Amino acid sequence: MKGGKSMAEVVQREPENRIGMEFNAEKYKTDFPILSRMIRGTKLVYLDSAATTQKPRVVIDAVDQYYRLHNANVHRGLHTLAEEATAAYEATRDKIAGFIGGVKREEIIYTRNATEAINMVASSWGYQNIKKGDRIVITQMEHHANLVPWIVLSRKTGAELVYIPIDPEGYLDLADLKDIIAPNTKIVALTHMSNVLGTINPVDEIIALAHKRGAVALVDGAQSVPHMPVDVRAMDADFLAFSAHKMLGPTGLGVLYGKEELLSRMEPVQYGGEMISEVRYDYAAWNELPHKFEAGTPNIEAAFAFLPALEYLEKIGMENIRRHEMELTGYALDKLAGLEFIKVFGPKDLNHRGGAVSFIDKNIHPHDMATFLDTLGIAVRAGHHCAQPLTRLLGVNSTTRASLYLYNTHNDIDQLITGLKEARRYFRYE
Ligand SMILES: Cc1ncc(COP(=O)(O)O)c(C=O)c1O
Repeated sequence: MKGGKSMAEVVQREPENRIGMEFNAEKYKTDFPILSRMIRGTKLVYLDSAATTQKPRVVIDAVDQYYRLHNANVHRGLHTLAEEATAAYEATRDKIAGFIGGVKREEIIYTRNATEAINMVASSWGYQNIKKGDRIVITQMEHHANLVPWIVLSRKTGAELVYIPIDPEGYLDLADLKDIIAPNTKIVALTHMSNVLGTINPVDEIIALAHKRGAVALVDGAQSVPHMPVDVRAMDADFLAFSAHKMLGPTGLGVLYGKEELLSRMEPVQYGGEMISEVRYDYAAWNELPHKFEAGTPNIEAAFAFLPALEYLEKIGMENIRRHEMELTGYALDKLAGLEFIKVFGPKDLNHRGGAVSFIDKNIHPHDMATFLDTLGIAVRAGHHCAQPLTRLLGVNSTTRASLYLYNTHNDIDQLITGLKEARRYFRYE
């Protein structure tokens, strides 16, 4: 798998995981209290994990435990609670550093979400390094989070913004890559996995070319880090952004990984407490990494509860999660292909796609479809999925998206398929 760990590496780094054991999604489901909720008389079928994932009991309990036992501000106090809160907050940073391939803890910056992580790079590294005549390269399949910051940066600096196109199947068209990543390119920023098409991009190859041109590479890992092994060092990305809430963790916490040599030369984005080493009335100097980028009181509760989320994922094993989602995505694609009124977008090859499956019904609007499915207890997403240019490129103004995770089962897909058929009857197309 491109950009991922080999199976041998996974086994070595995650000795307690259960490679080869049967993946029991039905059992994992019971770890998520919300998944036994009844919605309009039916047990919830949650197929919207690309938007946000549900949380296992260990994460919910950690939030409760944090406020019951450990609540204090970090890095400031000398009392027991402050020491415990700080230790836990920093322990999660260490866990994250290990989770993405064993990087330095100084290279892990806490943010609010993936969006903030990408904005930090655009507004710090971007303004320090990009000027008129330079080139910024992104792709046609970016989420607005990895699109709008670059539109603004190019508008404000006069740098050109150039897109790697996609082909009709939903892959990046790399035919002209050498021309697109021209010698004046300063940054290539691309998604690892599309939240609309599910496409997994060959980031290694693109990063290698970016580096050859002297450019840096940012990978939007919001959809890949939760669903497959991601080794940022093997990939050699300069920056990687992702969100805790898309990988079983709490909302309000994201991660920016950046190579130390780049982060150390970057200006902070926000100024205030925590991020300084010394302040006088006429002078301020910055704290060392990673604190230089973490002004003010952070989301301590979320960092506290993200640790058990990462442990939960590691225990199952990211390779196993990826394998389960590949199998289930294949099942969903086969079933959807059997419905002549449904058109699915994105690649068919499971080796190059994840479990975000976008489709349209030839007659029923995606919003009507999602609303109807909700009456059956099935949660899907409908709209442009924060990728308006891509949706337009697909020739539609919205799609319905079913997106999978480790707790989804064949039965969930069967219920979706039944729901799609019932919608045809309800809206009187059959
Ligand atoms: C590919 C991709 N990038 C970035 C984001 C932004 O994530 P967040 O809203 O957590 O910042 C998302 C969210 O859906 C996404 O799917």
